[in-house]
Amino acid sequence: MDRILIRGGTPLTGTIPIGGAKNAALPLMAASLLTAEPLVLANLPDLADIRTMANLLGQHGVTITNAEAGEARHGSGQVLELSARHITSTTAPYDLVRKMRASVLVLGPLVARFGRCRVSLPGGCAIGTRPVDLHLKGLERLGAEVELSEGYIEARAPKGLRGAEIVFPSVSVGATENLLMAASLAEGETVLINAAREPEITDLAQCLVAMGADIDGIGSDRLVIRGASSLHGARHTVIPDRIETGTYMMAAAATGGDVRLVGAKLDHVEALVRVFETAGVCVSETADAITVRRRNGRLTGTDVMTEPFPGFATDLQAQIMALMATAEGASMITETIFENRFMHVPELVRMGANINVHGASALVRGVPRLTGAPVMATDLRASVSLVIAGLVAGGETIVNRVYHLDRGYERLEEKLSACGARIERLRSAA
Ligand code: UD1
Repeated sequence: MDRILIRGGTPLTGTIPIGGAKNAALPLMAASLLTAEPLVLANLPDLADIRTMANLLGQHGVTITNAEAGEARHGSGQVLELSARHITSTTAPYDLVRKMRASVLVLGPLVARFGRCRVSLPGGCAIGTRPVDLHLKGLERLGAEVELSEGYIEARAPKGLRGAEIVFPSVSVGATENLLMAASLAEGETVLINAAREPEITDLAQCLVAMGADIDGIGSDRLVIRGASSLHGARHTVIPDRIETGTYMMAAAATGGDVRLVGAKLDHVEALVRVFETAGVCVSETADAITVRRRNGRLTGTDVMTEPFPGFATDLQAQIMALMATAEGASMITETIFENRFMHVPELVRMGANINVHGASALVRGVPRLTGAPVMATDLRASVSLVIAGLVAGGETIVNRVYHLDRGYERLEEKLSACGARIERLRSAA
C-alpha cells in the first residue's frame, strides 16, 4: 500500500487549483439514471469514489464516455457523458455499495423511473453507524413499498411514485438528495421540509432543473418539487469542492503560508472564514480565487462546532483540529453530526498534540510544536488532517493507508509540493 512521506516545517506559498466537488459529483452522476437521454457532466474530479460510482452505474447499464474530445474544457476536471437509455439491472450489489455509502443514491432515481430497485444495505462505517432510515421513510411517503431482505433494501412502486409532504426529523444530505431526485419523477407535488441546504444540494437541484424538473426553494430548507412524467438530457458543470478548499486553507494557515486557491468560492466556506478571523488568519477573495495568509505570530485557539450547512462542515472537523493543535490557548471542538468522528485524535496525540475527548467534544490545548511520526487514519478527512499535522511538524511523518486520501483528494502531493511542501508518495512494491 502506498504511503505519504512529509518533511514538515515549510510554509506553503503559491497557487493551488481547486477541483470539482466529489460530494456534488456523486449525486449528479446518479441523476443520470432519471432520463433516457445523455447527461453531460463537466469539471468532474478524477478520484477513486468517482470511479466507484461510474462502475456502479455501469453495472446498471449506464454507458459512460469521455465527452472531452473536441470541446473546450471546463476547469481542470474531466467531462463525462452518461447515458441511461438501456438499463440492464436495478440492483446495486454489496461489493460496490460497501466500498462507498453514496451508492445508496441510485435508490431514488431507479425507483422513480423503473418502479423498483434493490440496494445492498451500506452497513457499518468508520465514522459511526450512519443509518439510511430517512431515505427509506421518505420513499415510503412517496408511495414505495420498502422491505429489508437478505442484507438488501428492496423498494417497489409498480404504479410510480406520488408526491407527498416529507418532514425530515433531522437534516440529512443524502436523504434530501435521494428524495429530490425521486420527487422529480413522482406524480404531483412533493414538499421536502427541513431539507439539507448544502451547496451540493443546490448544485443537484440546478442540474435537475436543467433536465426539466420544476423545483422551488432551491438553497432553502423547504424544497417544493412538481414532478414530471419524464426528464431530458442536459449539460452541467460541477461546483468547486468546498472541502478540498477548506482543507488547503487549513494547510496554508497551519504552516504560516500564503496560498491562492484558484476556482474556490468564498460563500461555500464562510463558517471557516469566521473561525479564521478569530484565530488570526486573513482570507481575501478575488474574481477567480481565495487567498489565505496567516497574520504574524501563532494562531489563537478558537472553539468550533460542526453543524449542517451553512454551519461549520463536519468534513472539516479533523483538519481544524490539526490546525488548532499548535494554536495559542485552548479550543473546544464539538462534533454534532457524526458519533465516533474523533479517530484522528490518538494519531495527533502521537505527534505531540494535547487533546482530550469528552463525549462529543475535544478539548485541544495548543502546543508550540508537533513532531513527525508514522501515523494512519481510518477515513478520508482524518487522513488529510494528519497530512496537515505532518506539514507543520518537525521531522518526518509517514501517513499510511493513502487509499483513503485517494478517495477524495486529487493529486494531493503534487498540489502541495507546488507550494513548497516537502511531500512525496512512497509507492508500494506490490
Ligand atoms: C454527506 C457527505 C459526507 C458528509 C455528510 C454530512 C456525500 C457523498 N457525503 O454524507 O461527506 O460528512 O453529508 O455533511 O455527500 N442519518 C440518519 N438516517 C439517515 C441518514 C442520515 O440517522 O437515513 C444521520 C447520519 O448517521 C448522520 C447525520 O444523519 O449522523 C447526517 O448524515 P447525512 O447528512 O445523511 O450524511 P451523508 O449524506 O451520508
